Amino acid sequence: MKVLVIGNGAREHALCRSLSLDPDVTALHCAPGNAGIAEVAELHQVDALDGTAVSALAGELGVDLVVVGPEAPLVAGVADAVREAGIPVFGPSKEAAQLEGSKAFAKEVMAGAGVPTARSYVCTTPAEVDEALDAFGTPYVVKDDGLAAGKGVVVTDDIQVAAAHANACERVVIEEYLDGPEVSLFAITDGQTVVPLQPAQDFKRALDGDEGPNTGGMGAYSPLPWADPKLVDEVLQTVLQPTVDEMRRRGTPFSGLLYAGLAITSRGVRVIEFNARFGDPETQVVLARLKTPLGGVLLAAANGTLDVLEPLRWSDDAAVTVVVASRNYPATPRTGDPITGLDEVAAQDAPHAYVLHAGTKRTGDAIVSAGGRVLSVTATGKNLTEARDRAYQAVSRIHLDGSQHRTDIAAKAAGA
Ligand code: AMP
Ligand code: GLY
Repeated sequence: MKVLVIGNGAREHALCRSLSLDPDVTALHCAPGNAGIAEVAELHQVDALDGTAVSALAGELGVDLVVVGPEAPLVAGVADAVREAGIPVFGPSKEAAQLEGSKAFAKEVMAGAGVPTARSYVCTTPAEVDEALDAFGTPYVVKDDGLAAGKGVVVTDDIQVAAAHANACERVVIEEYLDGPEVSLFAITDGQTVVPLQPAQDFKRALDGDEGPNTGGMGAYSPLPWADPKLVDEVLQTVLQPTVDEMRRRGTPFSGLLYAGLAITSRGVRVIEFNARFGDPETQVVLARLKTPLGGVLLAAANGTLDVLEPLRWSDDAAVTVVVASRNYPATPRTGDPITGLDEVAAQDAPHAYVLHAGTKRTGDAIVSAGGRVLSVTATGKNLTEARDRAYQAVSRIHLDGSQHRTDIAAKAAGA
């Protein structure tokens, strides 16, 4: 099978790494990719938001499957263009991707499907905003309705900050605050059959101790030793399957990766958000533990044959990933700085720890930073403590001027 992956983050590097290890994958292409992905896939230049260009590239390469990584191309309809060209594609249609593209739409689907989530109001005027903030009280949760790369949400006790964020957005969702730990649970679906993956936990805030601004995600781990072993089944029954069924009922079947961001509250599981694609950095740890070759699973979702797929096989190992971000991420990340130490990780820490590139590019012999989240160091071990130690050992070998990373990824879960 020949596969083309669209995207250029650590998530796409993780996808390409797993696909490169799948014996059925005979050729692997990625567009636009990054310096790390170039080591496992052939890179191509393409505007990832241009469906015509992506499907033309897929046609020229003669691929059997296109995997669309990030949300922006999905929301722009890239999967539709590829599907119309007759090429199997892993990723939802433009309409189905609204589950991530519009928080108000996601709330509507959840209401229709009876899926538990925070009570909320959709507001478009300052008067509506004031009323909603008043109705819920502190902490205030204010979400930009549209795509904002994980940075559109403000959670604050300060009413001025909450109102300012709300009024800076065209349309906002203001909702009840959900307490309790967060879990990311991904499911692969063909629009009918839903195959849940293993749960992971992400660290969304920039700084240790969950301080600082929200980011795209600063680290993740899997499995979750503290979670109820029945969690995956419960979420499949109460969230994932009903949502997929509701999307089909509405005439906009969702196929691809359904990401449920959950809060485990004292009153039960609640959906914080849906995403329409693999999470980053959670994918890095989930795929590190998946033993079933990935290509066949994604192709089955694209072809609507998940009902006959063998149950997924998982490693008992734990996995931890630590994101190394540029100076000033998430506000105004500095780019263009050289990254060193990558060869040392490859020489001394592989195969248990490895680097997945995000915002990197090659200039001459050097690899330099080219984005906010620069790379994601992923490690496996017999438990979270070992995986964590290996990840941080590898992080310590990498140098990027002014870079930042959290030092407490998986610490609590590992009992560190
Ligand atoms: P989202 O983009 O919706 O995932 O929100 C980003 C982050 O904001 C989440 O991971 C939570 O940490 C936080 N958040 C979002 N909604 C809520 C909520 N209703 N209650 C508490 N925290 C929330
Ligand atoms: N890690 C959060 C996300 O992918 O949206």
